[in-house]
Amino acid sequence: MNLLRTKSIEQSIADTDEPEYQLKRSLGALDLTVFGVGVVIGAGIFTLTGRAAHNVAGPAIVISFVIAAVACALAAMCYAEFASTVPVSGSAYTFSYAALGEVFAWIIGWDLILELFLGASVVAQGWSAYLGVFLGKLGIELPAAISYGGVIDLPAVLLVLILGVLVAVGIKESLRVNLALVAVKLFIVLFVIVAGIGFINPANYVPFVPESIPTPASDPNAWATQPLLQFFTGAVPATFGVGGILAGAALVFFAYIGFDVVATTAEETRNPQRNLPIGIIASLVICTILYCAVALVVTGMVPYDQLDPKAALANAFVQHGQTWAATLISAGAVAGLTTVVLTLMIGATRLIFAMSRDALLPMGLAKVHPTFRTPWLITAIVTGAVAVVAGFTPVGVLEEMVNIGTLSAFVLVSIGVVVLRRKRPELPRAFRVPWSPVLPIASAVICGYLMLNLSVETWLRFLIWLVIGFAIYFAYSMRNSRLATGVAIRPDLLDAMEHGRLHDPDDLR
Ligand code: ALA
Repeated sequence: MNLLRTKSIEQSIADTDEPEYQLKRSLGALDLTVFGVGVVIGAGIFTLTGRAAHNVAGPAIVISFVIAAVACALAAMCYAEFASTVPVSGSAYTFSYAALGEVFAWIIGWDLILELFLGASVVAQGWSAYLGVFLGKLGIELPAAISYGGVIDLPAVLLVLILGVLVAVGIKESLRVNLALVAVKLFIVLFVIVAGIGFINPANYVPFVPESIPTPASDPNAWATQPLLQFFTGAVPATFGVGGILAGAALVFFAYIGFDVVATTAEETRNPQRNLPIGIIASLVICTILYCAVALVVTGMVPYDQLDPKAALANAFVQHGQTWAATLISAGAVAGLTTVVLTLMIGATRLIFAMSRDALLPMGLAKVHPTFRTPWLITAIVTGAVAVVAGFTPVGVLEEMVNIGTLSAFVLVSIGVVVLRRKRPELPRAFRVPWSPVLPIASAVICGYLMLNLSVETWLRFLIWLVIGFAIYFAYSMRNSRLATGVAIRPDLLDAMEHGRLHDPDDLR
């Protein structure tokens, strides 16, 4: 048994390179940037900014955004080098199968499932929060028990079910629809910035870093909600202060998640060695600037302790009597967040599909529907899981789980860059992380450090997730993996891969 067996890079490319299944390479750097910004801007900026400023960081949340951006920029460069060396779809999972070995690929895949499927659930909840605000402005109040934060978040469940049906019948995100939704989102974010500047009261920035406040000793959950780092150092559980900035960074990291999904389009990208890194890094830069501006404006508009933790962007305007602006923002958020949920669900489906294709998960899961030519069974499972989680999990629990899953994948990817440079120095790399191995190691360290700033309960949940993952690997995947058994790839699976792809090249002309 060889846990570190690797799928050769040549094999990975060959699996997707049979002439009849080859995807047209039609995406350029601009397409990727639009795609990236479309996936990245979502519930993070619309809901988490307010909650993180209100609960842990105060106006210093803007510093948290910068710290998270630095971590993402380093990880993005590692992703870009990986993606430009191994230009096949399947994201970090495929890359690491080639670079690090099967057990790492499995665990990265397992972490990314966490990122994508819980990410979809969180954004669905955020969508529901803004839908509630929007309907409220129209004079329609949903019963509290069946709306955002209620017993069941019915709007979120319905959204996920509808999107699941679209994925199952093989919806392809056409560039035009995507472009329109990205434009709406950008407009709304810019609107918040421009319209909000006039309402800034500099007094709201004082104190910029609110003094650290110990969690009340009477709170029985204080030990579980404090960052792991505080727990280990024996510090008194506390919020705000410098620790709050770091905890805030670990939380708003969520807002940047998605630029890694750009790397999954390598197969459909023209000159991926050049265009992928540009696409990934450009989307990150645009989002960082917008996020910092939004954070500054919103915490300037309303004292941080009065920010609305669920729909802060819209409600900051309500607090200034600008109800029409709140209506506009919530309508834009409802439109814009839909595509994020859809992309994350498609991402989860494709990833599980790739893992079943390699037989790390049962190949039977990847059953292809005869008419729609999509992996309907995986789609049904993903849809059901996202709907249940979005519908029944209390708000605020899942974001950190998404972050810890993503950050752990980033740590492994960063290490993978160093490993692959040593193992396969001769492979062409159009994009190379500068100052390797210093920057990749810095990336791993910073992402690891952010992980330590996530709460104890998040770590416990994550460990349970990992234990389940390893149990499946050792009980099933290790023995059945296509690499172990040498079973040939099924052409119908490849066919479905092609049909499940995000972009229809015909839509792009
Ligand atoms: N970055 C994405 C969001 O904020 C996941 O919703």
